[in-house]
Amino acid sequence: MTAPRTITTDLVSLQPPEEQDAALVAELMGVPEDAERPAEIVRGWREHWDEHGYGTWIATDASGRRVGFVGLRAHDDFIRVTIRTLEGQGEEDLAGPAMRLVVAHALEWLPDLPLRLRVAPEDLATRFVAEFAGMVHAPDLDHTVGGDDWQVLELPWVRVADKIPARAREAMLRMWVEVNEAGGAVGFLPGADEGEVAAVLDGYAAQLERGDTSLVALNSPHGDLLGFGFVVRPSGATVAHTANLERIMTDPARRGTNHGALLMAGMHRAARERGVELVTLDYRGGTGLGEFYTRFGYTEVGRVPGGVRVAPGDDRDGVIMARSL
Ligand SMILES: CC(C)(COP(=O)(O)OP(=O)(O)OC[C@H]1O[C@@H](n2cnc3c(N)ncnc32)[C@H](O)[C@@H]1OP(=O)(O)O)[C@@H](O)C(=O)NCCC(=O)NCCS
Repeated sequence: MTAPRTITTDLVSLQPPEEQDAALVAELMGVPEDAERPAEIVRGWREHWDEHGYGTWIATDASGRRVGFVGLRAHDDFIRVTIRTLEGQGEEDLAGPAMRLVVAHALEWLPDLPLRLRVAPEDLATRFVAEFAGMVHAPDLDHTVGGDDWQVLELPWVRVADKIPARAREAMLRMWVEVNEAGGAVGFLPGADEGEVAAVLDGYAAQLERGDTSLVALNSPHGDLLGFGFVVRPSGATVAHTANLERIMTDPARRGTNHGALLMAGMHRAARERGVELVTLDYRGGTGLGEFYTRFGYTEVGRVPGGVRVAPGDDRDGVIMARSL
């Protein structure tokens, strides 16, 4: 399947530029609509799309008004992301959601290269938008061009592994216990100890060895584990095009910074690359997770009333969701 050319949510919609978007660029630049430069910029964006199959998106709000752009530009060994929105009646509020969507899309569909944004040290607004989308400052990439200082932020990256690296095991175990302690629905009763969790983790290690399961880990540019999950393919010829996504979790200390979306993007990419066309997952009712997964195109396909006993007297529904890839 090829990467979608548009991204649409209730709040914001992103599409490749058209010639008439020169008017938006002129407004952003503060130059007359018929100036030559904005038209040139849009032409460059359109050529980039033709050459690479991705590029700069024009963002529109729910009423269809163009409010800015999020750009992706191919460099030799990284992809640069840029963002500009109009200042005015709330347009800048769409910068965060637009940025979040674009970086997750990049992780799911684009060449597997670092995604970087550079920002002037005083431009705190852009830096905030990038950090809200999960990007982190990578000081060793900061540089000066023509006397201007630039700070560089980089997006976390995804590693797909067919075994649990020894060094990752400890971090995974620690995160799993912490997520459970923080009330996460990751297969254990509250207070489960490390030994119990380790036994289940080692069960996955055995599955990974058999080759029907992949570990998908989200890592910060500094190498910290930010989240993980497993893509589990069932055995049997009739279901070889399906997979179940299991134990999806992110670091509780860094929630709300798009890591869940980035992890889902990485899991979908990994599944698709393994020939999977249909994914399922299940979650514990009463956790609000249905809403989270609906954002990523899942719909509820089944519910086992009272199928999950969290504690005596606290039975929850086991809910099954699915989506095609
Ligand atoms: C579910 C989970 C992976 C999401 O990760 P995250 O790092 O918080 O994700 P993001 O930052 O990308 O997304 C946050 C958004 O999802 C929403 N969200 C996250 N968890 C949610 C939940 N349990 N119920 C409803 N919404 C949720 C947040 O409200 C936030 O919404 P906003 O963007 O409108 O502010 C993470 O919360 C987690 O690890 N939970 C515990 C483990 C768990 O229950 N896993 C599910 C197994 S089926």
